[in-house]
Amino acid sequence: MDNNRAQWGSRIGFLLAAAGSAVGLGNIWKFPGKAFEGGGGAFLLIYIVIVVLIGMPAMISELAIGRASQANVVDSFGKLGHKGYAWVGWVGWLVAFIITCYYSHVGGWVLRYVAAYAVQSAEVYAEPAGFFYKVLGLDAASGTGFMPWMTLLFAAVFIAVCAFVIIKGVESGIERFNKFGMPALFVLLIILLVRAVTLPGASEGLRYMLSIDGSKVSGQTLLTALSQAFYSLSLGMSIMVTYGSYLPRKENISRNTFLVCTMDTLVAFMAGFIIIPAVFATLGPEGVGKGGGFAFISLAGVFKAMPGGVLFGVIFYLLLLFAALTSTVSLIEGIVAFLTERTGWNRTRTTIICSAVMFLIGCLYTCSQAAFSLKGIWFDFANGFTYPALCDAMEFLTDRVMIPLCALGCCIFVGWSWKPKSAVDEIERCGIRFRLAKAYSFLIKFIVPAAIIVIFFVSLFTGTTLS
Ligand code: PHE
Repeated sequence: MDNNRAQWGSRIGFLLAAAGSAVGLGNIWKFPGKAFEGGGGAFLLIYIVIVVLIGMPAMISELAIGRASQANVVDSFGKLGHKGYAWVGWVGWLVAFIITCYYSHVGGWVLRYVAAYAVQSAEVYAEPAGFFYKVLGLDAASGTGFMPWMTLLFAAVFIAVCAFVIIKGVESGIERFNKFGMPALFVLLIILLVRAVTLPGASEGLRYMLSIDGSKVSGQTLLTALSQAFYSLSLGMSIMVTYGSYLPRKENISRNTFLVCTMDTLVAFMAGFIIIPAVFATLGPEGVGKGGGFAFISLAGVFKAMPGGVLFGVIFYLLLLFAALTSTVSLIEGIVAFLTERTGWNRTRTTIICSAVMFLIGCLYTCSQAAFSLKGIWFDFANGFTYPALCDAMEFLTDRVMIPLCALGCCIFVGWSWKPKSAVDEIERCGIRFRLAKAYSFLIKFIVPAAIIVIFFVSLFTGTTLS
């Protein structure tokens, strides 16, 4: 049955594509701020433990489901004889859809920043906050909104590039693109790391990231680390099941998982060791934040204050651009794989239609500060339907409700219905030995579901912010 299914052309191709999906905006702008709040070194340690004990077994399971079923995320459970779990696939598919709508627009903002820094636009350099609002359709000085068509154009270009990669297919599109994008990302990271730690005053930040301050660690820190790990490893959203389904049988799932998780965590840590020292050195510890406002306003302030800032600004936003591109490609692949397989639609047409629909929905994001009239109707997004409100609602729905639900469904499926033994058999096909099979079976049956249930209920019912 797998004869005509697409496959990765090489092991490194799969590795880079899966790592490209995992390494995204979350590593660069969410992780450092969370590590800062969680007490620096203490958070890093907790994060590593969580990735190893919870993230790795969860990723192994998703890849094994995909490879064993040779199907997209919705159909995979049925193919393995458990149709009743199809809802898990639907949830994961929907998460990918919702995330792509905003992720691709944020990618467009990043592209606009790259362009602005590349032409050394005084606008972004001199006025970081003003520029960010302008990107979203608000002239902050006069308080008047407008239609941010320029940003929409950048977002359209961004999503078109991703769609192009998807249309080229798994091997000659996604794999080739990541083979170029991921090494480029590492090079940019290293350049920035060297710049950041050699800034005068950076050592304070470095010391903070290396010191273990237990007093900042609370139950909340654990939950933050757990939800960050899921988001960052692209778990609970259909991607690893889909990518696993393209993995040849002779490939070692457990070793690949180890490598992908290590790369993802390494990039997150490097981002932490770039951003925290750089912010300490320029804006001081109060300057540390997370999310869009931080990446687009505060960090632009850091480049303003740093020698050679324009150049490092281009490098930083290029880094974000690669991270966002490779993640968006994986999101769209998960969406398109399901639609084409389920309906028999043609890949090119499906990709174009889906990308267009997600682009249109995502316009609400980019226009979030905008006010303009269209065919005589006055639209005022800034009033009542603001950027933070929409983002928060979406993030709540995906990160706190749907991702844990899908991840929980996958691990309960593997732990209790399909049975860890079947996953281990899938991993051990072609004579590969899975040495940690016992530990894996125990973790996926008990520890992983318990941990997800805890994040799910605590974050849902205590109203705590996990972002
Ligand atoms: N893992 C990516 C990150 O860290 C985010 C992502 C989410 C990627 C969903 C793909 C799908 O930013």
